[in-house]
Amino acid sequence: MVKSVAAPQAKGKSAEDKIFGANNRAVALAETLGADKVINGTVGSILDEDGNLVMLHVVEEAFKALTPKEIVAYAPIQGYPDYLDAVIDQCFGESRPEGYIRACATSGGSGVLHHVIHNYSEWGDDILTSDWHWGAYGSMCNDNGRHLREFELIGSDGKFNFASFKEHVEDMVAKQYNTVIIMNSPANNPTGFALSSDDWDTVLAFLKDVVAGKDKNIILVPDVAYLDYSGEKKECRKFFKKFGNLPDNILVVVAYTCSKGFTMYGQRMGAMICVTANEDIANEFVAINQYTSRATWSNSNSAAMKAMANICKDPAKVAELDAERAKYFALIKERADIFMKEAQECGLKYLPYLSGFFITIPMEGSQAVCDLLEKENIFLVPLGKGVRLAVCSVSKAKITGLAAKIKSAVEATGAKQ
Ligand SMILES: Cc1ncc(COP(=O)(O)O)c(C=O)c1O
Repeated sequence: MVKSVAAPQAKGKSAEDKIFGANNRAVALAETLGADKVINGTVGSILDEDGNLVMLHVVEEAFKALTPKEIVAYAPIQGYPDYLDAVIDQCFGESRPEGYIRACATSGGSGVLHHVIHNYSEWGDDILTSDWHWGAYGSMCNDNGRHLREFELIGSDGKFNFASFKEHVEDMVAKQYNTVIIMNSPANNPTGFALSSDDWDTVLAFLKDVVAGKDKNIILVPDVAYLDYSGEKKECRKFFKKFGNLPDNILVVVAYTCSKGFTMYGQRMGAMICVTANEDIANEFVAINQYTSRATWSNSNSAAMKAMANICKDPAKVAELDAERAKYFALIKERADIFMKEAQECGLKYLPYLSGFFITIPMEGSQAVCDLLEKENIFLVPLGKGVRLAVCSVSKAKITGLAAKIKSAVEATGAKQ
């Protein structure tokens, strides 16, 4: 028996993360064999064509220009006002929805999800997300005594599966006071899928209907972690407009993060942004979430907030930021296009990819395929129903020929696609 002193609800928890595990093995192998001999498709960060972690130049300059006070001071718990204004502007751009909009600083997008689960659902509740989702959602629910429930994201026609979404929401609304829905779109992790403008209209019309006249609430959480690499700046933000003028019992909480859009992954800086037609609900949003920040990590990272806010105050720097993001968006798209073209040529199926850091190859038997690929120094992430390839981090040269190698591994292991 392994000795344990953990409290009963904490016993058996283990943070073994398949993604970081595969990444660690890839990094270790690259150190012995040389980076050119290893394909590491596990990393959810942008790497350039030489395999170096990208830090946007404008962000690097902003960090270098910080004053000691900006770096070391305790920031207000809610976040610096200039940071919160910048976050709202960066998130919505020209498509700012009507209503009361408030923001609270969080520890990355993860902090937003933690606070939403903690403050808007009850112990034992279900939280809804799509079957294709970022694995951390499940841990965040379990660690807070909630259960993650999944609807089918993509139907057999390759489109958003509204019927599945509707069935789950109806059931949850019948059983729970609040129904928290995490919708990771655009640039879904791990598929690169996104809801279309029409899909959002259908979803919102249904949500209004399902809680109309009831003492029940919907908390809709668009997780937009990869927003800045999901399309043309104005175009990819248009759906935000739809969140205005919703009834009081639908609260939108956007999960915003500086991790990807500002390449600040390790700085742990994000924000939760509410959109509601009701001022009391907006005030309550700030009060309860600020309280939970105080009760968990307390103040957020001063340097990261100031670096971000200082960029956003200067139109020339914002223009530089936009240009740099557009460059990396185009690079990721080129890599994804190479992979998809070759996958089609060799008959390897992949899920509908529109944009974002990842492409998913659906299959049963993903672990065996990844194990076999590792023998050829190719590191990918096995998921329950597929294999995830990080197109954000594999160079064009290394991505060329990869689809055929995966196809061979699928055939050699007898995995079913
Ligand atoms: C789907 C999704 N949401 C949110 C995040 C937020 O990450 P962070 O807490 O690093 O900002 C990530 C990061 O990998 C993600 O993949």
